[in-house]
Amino acid sequence: MAVKIAPSILSADFADFGAECRAIEAQGADWVHVDVMDGHFVPNLTFGPALCAAIRPHIKTVMDVHLMIAPVDPYIQAFADAGADIITAHIEAGPHIHRTLQSIRAAGCKVGVAINPGTPAVAVAPLIDMIDLVNVMTVNPGFGGQKFIQSQLNTIRDLRTMIGDRPILIEIDGGVDTITAPQCAAAGADVLVAGSAVFKGGSVDQPEMYGANIQALRDSIG
Ligand code: DX5
Ligand code: ZN
Repeated sequence: MAVKIAPSILSADFADFGAECRAIEAQGADWVHVDVMDGHFVPNLTFGPALCAAIRPHIKTVMDVHLMIAPVDPYIQAFADAGADIITAHIEAGPHIHRTLQSIRAAGCKVGVAINPGTPAVAVAPLIDMIDLVNVMTVNPGFGGQKFIQSQLNTIRDLRTMIGDRPILIEIDGGVDTITAPQCAAAGADVLVAGSAVFKGGSVDQPEMYGANIQALRDSIG
C-alpha cells in the first residue's frame, strides 16, 4: 500500500481554510489533517468543532482530526457531528484513554490514539485491538516547523512489530520532509502528516507548489 500524505492545515492560510483544503486535495493530498490545540494540553491554541464543520464541505477525502486537548471526552460528539472521519486522542491527555477510545467508536468515527515522544510504544499495547490508527508524534506537539526527533524511528519500528497483520495505520506527525519521510517509510509508516513541507512556497493562488511539494515527498520515499 502506498504511503499516504496528509497535509496539516496548521500551515495553511488561516483566513482561507476552505480554499486551502480544496487546493491541497486538487494537488494530490490523500487526507486533510486538522490539528486541534487547546492552550492547556499543548502550549498553543488553534480551532475547534465549528471550524471542522465549516471546512467539511470543502474536503472530499478524509478529515483526520488530531485532538491535542484535555479533557477530550466532553468534545468527542461535537467533532463527530462536525464530520470528522478519524478522531485521534492523546494517550497522555487523561487517566481514561480506554473510555475515550470507546467514546470515539461509539460516535461513529475511526479511532486514533496519539503518543508523545516521551511515551513508549508499549503504552499502546493494551489498546491495540480498539484502534484504527496510531499517531506517532515525531516532535513535541504544539507547533509546526519543528525538527524531527530521530529516536522516534525506534517507536515506529516497535509499533510495526506490535501491530502485526492488524489493519491499523501508523501515522507520523511532525518534522516530516524529504529527508525524514523515507526514514519513516522504512520504519513502517503508512501515513505522513506534513505541514511546512507541503505548504512552503505555495498559496491558494499558486497551488502548483503544493503539488510539487507533495510529489517531492512521494518521490523521496521511492
Ligand atoms: C504538531 C502538529 C503537527 C504539525 C506538523 O503539534 O500535530 O501536525 O502541524 O507540522 P510540520 O510538518 O510543520 O512539522
Ligand atoms: Zn497533528
